[in-house]
Amino acid sequence: MDYKSLIDASKLPDVKTTIFTTIGNLARKNNAIDLSQGFPNFEADPKLTSLVSQALNNGHNQYAPMQGYYGLREIISHKITSLHQHTYHPENEVTITVGATEAIFTAITAFVGKGDEVIVINPAYDCYEPAIVLNGGVPVYLQLDAPEYKIDWTTFKKKITDKTKMVIINTPHNPSGTILTKWDMEKLEAILKPTNIILLSDEVYEHIVFDGREHESASRFSDLVNRSIVCASFGKTFHVTGWKVGYCVAPPELMSEFRKVHQFNVFCVDHPVQRALACYLKNASHYLELNDFYQKKRDFFLDGIKSSKFKCKPSQGTYFQLLDYINLTKEVDEVIGKRLIIENKIASIPISSFNVDHRNDHMLRFCFAKKQETLEKAVEILCKL
Ligand SMILES: Cc1ncc(COP(=O)(O)O)c(C=O)c1O
Repeated sequence: MDYKSLIDASKLPDVKTTIFTTIGNLARKNNAIDLSQGFPNFEADPKLTSLVSQALNNGHNQYAPMQGYYGLREIISHKITSLHQHTYHPENEVTITVGATEAIFTAITAFVGKGDEVIVINPAYDCYEPAIVLNGGVPVYLQLDAPEYKIDWTTFKKKITDKTKMVIINTPHNPSGTILTKWDMEKLEAILKPTNIILLSDEVYEHIVFDGREHESASRFSDLVNRSIVCASFGKTFHVTGWKVGYCVAPPELMSEFRKVHQFNVFCVDHPVQRALACYLKNASHYLELNDFYQKKRDFFLDGIKSSKFKCKPSQGTYFQLLDYINLTKEVDEVIGKRLIIENKIASIPISSFNVDHRNDHMLRFCFAKKQETLEKAVEILCKL
């Protein structure tokens, strides 16, 4: 077997083990407080886990429908109508996916072909680019500047060419913790209106928005909604990232193409979990209370590090907080990120890995979806640096 020639022809020659895995392993090896990876270290609501047990015991152990369990699609549709005043029909506009990751990969695979350009806004979550490249597409990057991470819509517009097939946005935004405002979404809508460009809107942190701000879903905007595939994640919303269940919504024409790929990619998603989620979602407080829940954690973290050398802009959404370490050291972020793990026993994610050409903006990303005692220990370490 000539492995070398196979590897030389790799479809993703530049992809290495993700920074999350590298940092996570280093954190475990050094027994560090881990604020690097984006998942909670506390348990999900026992009501939700017992609903899964019930579904298992009630025999929902065979394939779910390809599009997802109807009862779950129906309640998602109601949720979106009540939050964003747009109704997606559960029959042909809602699909349950293997987390948002599958929704994103499937959407890109369904629509992006050889030579198609896709606008990616950096810093960007790491699953967009490989999916574009695997499908022969060309990522076109728009790098935002720290610490504001604001999109300049004039610059954005200049990135559009007659080859642009898709634009990917992420609001609330991982890693910067910024959100797109109504004004931003209206700008985007006006720019895309005369085009045939698809919008892939990654809204996995839709229910984690702070200080009374609103999550401005693409579903809210009458022209955007007709061109958007909106992706969401129950993992993020219900503290169960390990379940990998999410969904996406789109107009029927886009959804039917999406499902052509979905059905041969995964066919369907974990059935008992879908049954449980359908039941759990009936109580809207289960997701509406998330803003407050995480805002308390963000505030505790920010209050705790007030006397530290870090500079920051409070996160507007997501469960991430960026900290600017320039007053501490001039080292590049990957170096200080690793040094903090080994010497100070605290792990975070260096932001250069999300930037174009690994640009170093002296920013580290800390995840505050952690137990109180974990946050207390983290704050203590950060204040001593
Ligand atoms: C911005 C963003 N999109 C998508 C995902 C993937 O979500 P899921 O775990 O539901 O696949 C994540 C997970 O960290 C994320 O941060």
